[in-house]
Amino acid sequence: MTRIAITRAVSRALQRCELTHRPRRPVDLALACSQHATYEQTLRDAGCEVRQLPEQPDHPDSVFVEDTAVVLDEVAVITRPGAQSRRGEVESMAVALEGLREIVRIDPPGTLDGGDVLQLDRTLYVGASARSSAEGIAQLGRLLAPFGYRVVAVPLQGCLHLKSAVTQVAPGGLLLNPGWVDARCFPGWEPIAIDAAEPHAANALRVGGAVIYPASCPRTADALRKLGIDVRSVDMSEMEKAEGAVTCCSVIVPT
Ligand code: GLY
Repeated sequence: MTRIAITRAVSRALQRCELTHRPRRPVDLALACSQHATYEQTLRDAGCEVRQLPEQPDHPDSVFVEDTAVVLDEVAVITRPGAQSRRGEVESMAVALEGLREIVRIDPPGTLDGGDVLQLDRTLYVGASARSSAEGIAQLGRLLAPFGYRVVAVPLQGCLHLKSAVTQVAPGGLLLNPGWVDARCFPGWEPIAIDAAEPHAANALRVGGAVIYPASCPRTADALRKLGIDVRSVDMSEMEKAEGAVTCCSVIVPT
Protein backbone atom coordinates (compact mmCIF):
# COMPACT_ATOMS: atom_id res chain seq x y z
CA MET A 1 0.00 0.00 0.00
CA THR A 2 1.21 3.51 -0.76
CA ARG A 3 0.35 6.50 1.43
CA ILE A 4 0.22 10.23 1.03
CA ALA A 5 1.02 12.27 4.14
CA ILE A 6 -0.45 15.77 3.98
CA THR A 7 1.47 18.23 6.14
CA ARG A 8 1.66 22.01 6.35
CA ALA A 9 4.62 24.34 6.76
CA VAL A 10 4.97 25.69 10.30
CA SER A 11 3.18 29.04 10.74
CA ARG A 12 5.41 31.95 11.69
CA ALA A 13 2.67 32.71 14.25
CA LEU A 14 3.10 29.38 16.09
CA GLN A 15 3.99 31.24 19.29
CA ARG A 16 0.38 32.56 19.40
CA CYS A 17 -1.11 29.04 19.32
CA GLU A 18 -4.10 27.91 21.34
CA LEU A 19 -3.14 26.37 24.68
CA THR A 20 -5.50 24.39 26.90
CA HIS A 21 -3.50 22.22 29.29
CA ARG A 22 0.07 23.46 28.84
CA PRO A 23 1.64 26.71 30.07
CA ARG A 24 2.86 29.16 27.43
CA ARG A 25 6.62 28.91 26.86
CA PRO A 26 8.77 30.56 24.19
CA VAL A 27 8.81 28.59 20.93
CA ASP A 28 12.02 28.53 18.88
CA LEU A 29 10.53 28.93 15.39
CA ALA A 30 13.68 27.97 13.50
CA LEU A 31 13.98 24.82 15.61
CA ALA A 32 10.28 24.08 15.07
CA CYS A 33 10.79 24.26 11.29
CA SER A 34 13.87 22.06 11.45
CA GLN A 35 12.08 19.48 13.63
CA HIS A 36 9.13 19.57 11.25
CA ALA A 37 11.43 18.86 8.29
CA THR A 38 12.86 15.87 10.16
CA TYR A 39 9.33 14.68 10.94
CA GLU A 40 8.47 14.86 7.23
CA GLN A 41 11.61 12.90 6.35
CA THR A 42 10.61 10.27 8.92
CA LEU A 43 7.25 10.00 7.16
CA ARG A 44 9.06 9.50 3.84
CA ASP A 45 11.32 6.86 5.41
CA ALA A 46 8.16 5.09 6.58
CA GLY A 47 6.90 4.94 2.99
CA CYS A 48 4.81 8.11 2.63
CA GLU A 49 4.73 10.61 -0.19
CA VAL A 50 4.72 13.93 1.69
CA ARG A 51 2.56 16.73 0.25
CA GLN A 52 3.21 19.93 2.16
CA LEU A 53 0.51 22.63 2.13
CA PRO A 54 1.61 26.27 2.19
CA GLU A 55 2.18 28.14 5.42
CA GLN A 56 -0.77 30.03 6.89
CA PRO A 57 0.80 33.07 8.61
CA ASP A 58 -2.51 34.06 10.20
CA HIS A 59 -3.29 30.64 11.65
CA PRO A 60 -0.85 29.83 14.47
CA ASP A 61 -2.00 26.20 14.88
CA SER A 62 -2.23 25.37 11.20
CA VAL A 63 0.76 22.99 11.25
CA PHE A 64 -1.54 20.65 13.21
CA VAL A 65 -3.36 19.51 10.07
CA GLU A 66 -4.79 16.40 11.70
CA ASP A 67 -7.55 18.48 13.23
CA THR A 68 -8.93 19.57 9.86
CA ALA A 69 -9.88 16.21 8.32
CA VAL A 70 -10.74 12.61 9.09
CA VAL A 71 -9.71 10.40 6.17
CA LEU A 72 -11.14 6.91 5.78
CA ASP A 73 -10.79 4.48 2.88
CA GLU A 74 -14.09 5.56 1.33
CA VAL A 75 -14.56 9.21 2.30
CA ALA A 76 -12.94 12.25 3.93
CA VAL A 77 -14.71 14.34 6.53
CA ILE A 78 -13.72 18.00 6.60
CA THR A 79 -14.07 19.07 10.21
CA ARG A 80 -15.22 22.26 11.87
CA PRO A 81 -12.55 22.84 14.55
CA GLY A 82 -13.71 23.67 18.04
CA ALA A 83 -11.37 26.66 18.34
CA GLN A 84 -12.69 29.65 16.40
CA SER A 85 -9.10 30.65 15.55
CA ARG A 86 -8.68 27.40 13.61
CA ARG A 87 -11.74 27.47 11.35
CA GLY A 88 -9.81 29.10 8.50
CA GLU A 89 -7.52 26.07 8.24
CA VAL A 90 -10.00 23.67 6.69
CA GLU A 91 -10.62 24.91 3.14
CA SER A 92 -7.13 24.29 1.84
CA MET A 93 -7.27 20.77 3.31
CA ALA A 94 -10.52 20.17 1.43
CA VAL A 95 -8.79 21.26 -1.80
CA ALA A 96 -5.84 18.96 -1.06
CA LEU A 97 -8.18 15.99 -0.61
CA GLU A 98 -10.22 16.65 -3.76
CA GLY A 99 -9.65 13.81 -6.18
CA LEU A 100 -8.37 11.55 -3.40
CA ARG A 101 -11.67 11.01 -1.57
CA GLU A 102 -15.35 11.88 -1.65
CA ILE A 103 -15.65 14.91 0.64
CA VAL A 104 -18.30 15.43 3.33
CA ARG A 105 -18.36 18.10 6.03
CA ILE A 106 -19.23 18.84 9.63
CA ASP A 107 -21.67 21.78 9.54
CA PRO A 108 -22.42 24.49 12.11
CA PRO A 109 -23.19 24.41 14.93
CA GLY A 110 -21.32 21.12 15.27
CA THR A 111 -17.60 21.14 16.05
CA LEU A 112 -15.08 18.35 15.64
CA ASP A 113 -11.27 18.21 15.85
CA GLY A 114 -9.58 15.37 13.98
CA GLY A 115 -7.29 14.86 16.98
CA ASP A 116 -10.32 13.55 18.82
CA VAL A 117 -11.01 10.80 16.28
CA LEU A 118 -9.37 7.40 16.77
CA GLN A 119 -10.22 4.85 14.09
CA LEU A 120 -10.04 1.23 15.24
CA ASP A 121 -11.23 -0.99 12.40
CA ARG A 122 -14.84 0.03 11.58
CA THR A 123 -15.35 1.98 14.81
CA LEU A 124 -14.43 5.63 15.25
CA TYR A 125 -13.95 6.57 18.88
CA VAL A 126 -14.37 10.31 19.36
CA GLY A 127 -13.22 12.26 22.40
CA ALA A 128 -16.00 14.24 24.02
CA SER A 129 -13.51 17.06 24.51
CA ALA A 130 -13.91 20.82 24.75
CA ARG A 131 -13.24 20.88 20.98
CA SER A 132 -15.63 18.20 19.71
CA SER A 133 -19.27 18.86 20.55
CA ALA A 134 -22.05 16.32 20.98
CA GLU A 135 -23.62 17.79 17.83
CA GLY A 136 -20.36 17.37 15.88
CA ILE A 137 -19.98 13.77 17.06
CA ALA A 138 -23.61 13.02 16.14
CA GLN A 139 -23.07 14.52 12.66
CA LEU A 140 -19.99 12.34 12.20
CA GLY A 141 -22.09 9.29 13.04
CA ARG A 142 -24.76 10.25 10.50
CA LEU A 143 -22.20 11.01 7.78
CA LEU A 144 -20.36 7.71 8.22
CA ALA A 145 -23.21 5.27 8.90
CA PRO A 146 -23.81 4.77 5.14
CA PHE A 147 -20.18 3.63 4.83
CA GLY A 148 -20.58 1.07 7.62
CA TYR A 149 -18.74 2.92 10.39
CA ARG A 150 -19.84 3.13 14.01
CA VAL A 151 -19.10 6.31 15.97
CA VAL A 152 -18.70 6.11 19.76
CA ALA A 153 -18.19 9.13 22.04
CA VAL A 154 -15.51 8.66 24.71
CA PRO A 155 -15.16 10.72 27.90
CA LEU A 156 -11.68 12.08 28.62
CA GLN A 157 -10.06 14.37 31.16
CA GLY A 158 -6.80 16.22 31.63
CA CYS A 159 -5.79 16.43 27.96
CA LEU A 160 -6.66 18.27 24.76
CA HIS A 161 -7.71 15.48 22.41
CA LEU A 162 -8.56 11.78 22.56
CA LYS A 163 -5.36 10.97 20.68
CA SER A 164 -3.39 12.77 23.41
CA ALA A 165 -4.62 9.91 25.61
CA VAL A 166 -4.69 6.83 23.37
CA THR A 167 -3.40 5.66 19.99
CA GLN A 168 -2.91 2.32 18.26
CA VAL A 169 0.69 1.06 18.24
CA ALA A 170 0.31 -2.59 17.25
CA PRO A 171 -2.30 -5.00 15.87
CA GLY A 172 -4.85 -5.09 18.69
CA GLY A 173 -2.64 -2.90 20.93
CA LEU A 174 -3.45 0.55 22.30
CA LEU A 175 -0.93 2.82 24.00
CA LEU A 176 -2.93 4.58 26.67
CA ASN A 177 -2.70 7.05 29.55
CA PRO A 178 -5.17 5.60 32.08
CA GLY A 179 -5.35 8.93 33.92
CA TRP A 180 -6.86 10.61 30.86
CA VAL A 181 -9.06 7.89 29.33
CA ASP A 182 -10.54 4.64 30.59
CA ALA A 183 -9.23 1.53 28.80
CA ARG A 184 -12.65 -0.08 29.23
CA CYS A 185 -13.96 2.28 26.54
CA PHE A 186 -12.14 0.12 23.96
CA PRO A 187 -13.40 -3.45 24.43
CA GLY A 188 -11.40 -6.12 22.64
CA TRP A 189 -8.25 -3.97 22.53
CA GLU A 190 -5.19 -4.68 24.66
CA PRO A 191 -4.04 -1.59 26.61
CA ILE A 192 -0.29 -0.98 26.78
CA ALA A 193 0.62 1.28 29.70
CA ILE A 194 2.76 4.34 29.19
CA ASP A 195 5.59 4.97 31.63
CA ALA A 196 4.05 6.85 34.56
CA ALA A 197 6.80 9.52 34.35
CA GLU A 198 5.75 10.36 30.77
CA PRO A 199 2.11 11.50 30.74
CA HIS A 200 2.28 12.66 27.10
CA ALA A 201 3.57 9.28 25.91
CA ALA A 202 0.31 7.92 24.51
CA ASN A 203 0.42 9.86 21.24
CA ALA A 204 2.11 7.72 18.60
CA LEU A 205 1.71 7.74 14.81
CA ARG A 206 1.53 4.25 13.32
CA VAL A 207 2.39 4.26 9.62
CA GLY A 208 2.56 0.83 8.08
CA GLY A 209 4.85 -1.21 10.31
CA ALA A 210 6.56 1.81 11.87
CA VAL A 211 5.57 3.94 14.85
CA ILE A 212 6.69 7.57 14.72
CA TYR A 213 7.17 8.58 18.31
CA PRO A 214 8.24 11.59 20.42
CA ALA A 215 11.85 11.62 21.62
CA SER A 216 10.57 13.23 24.83
CA CYS A 217 9.20 9.86 25.98
CA PRO A 218 12.27 7.57 25.99
CA ARG A 219 11.11 5.23 28.76
CA THR A 220 7.90 4.33 26.98
CA ALA A 221 9.81 4.10 23.69
CA ASP A 222 12.13 1.50 25.25
CA ALA A 223 9.15 -0.47 26.54
CA LEU A 224 7.57 -0.44 23.07
CA ARG A 225 10.82 -1.59 21.45
CA LYS A 226 10.96 -4.48 23.94
CA LEU A 227 7.54 -5.49 22.60
CA GLY A 228 9.07 -5.67 19.11
CA ILE A 229 7.55 -2.41 17.87
CA ASP A 230 9.56 -0.48 15.26
CA VAL A 231 9.77 2.89 17.06
CA ARG A 232 11.15 5.85 15.07
CA SER A 233 11.90 8.68 17.52
CA VAL A 234 11.56 12.31 16.45
CA ASP A 235 12.27 15.42 18.50
CA MET A 236 9.02 17.42 18.63
CA SER A 237 9.91 19.73 21.53
CA GLU A 238 8.66 22.93 19.86
CA MET A 239 5.38 21.37 18.72
CA GLU A 240 4.91 20.00 22.23
CA LYS A 241 5.18 23.56 23.61
CA ALA A 242 2.29 24.39 21.24
CA GLU A 243 0.30 21.40 22.58
CA GLY A 244 0.91 19.41 19.43
CA ALA A 245 2.33 15.93 18.96
CA VAL A 246 3.25 13.40 16.30
CA THR A 247 -0.23 12.53 15.06
CA CYS A 248 -1.26 16.21 14.83
CA CYS A 249 1.25 17.14 12.13
CA SER A 250 -0.04 14.97 9.29
CA VAL A 251 -3.13 13.56 7.65
CA ILE A 252 -2.37 10.11 6.27
CA VAL A 253 -4.19 9.15 3.08
CA PRO A 254 -3.83 5.53 1.98
CA THR A 255 -3.89 5.27 -1.82
N1 GLY B 1 -2.33 24.22 20.04
C1 GLY B 1 -3.04 23.14 19.50
C2 GLY B 1 -4.49 23.35 19.55
O1 GLY B 1 -4.95 23.92 20.51
O2 GLY B 1 -5.23 22.98 18.67
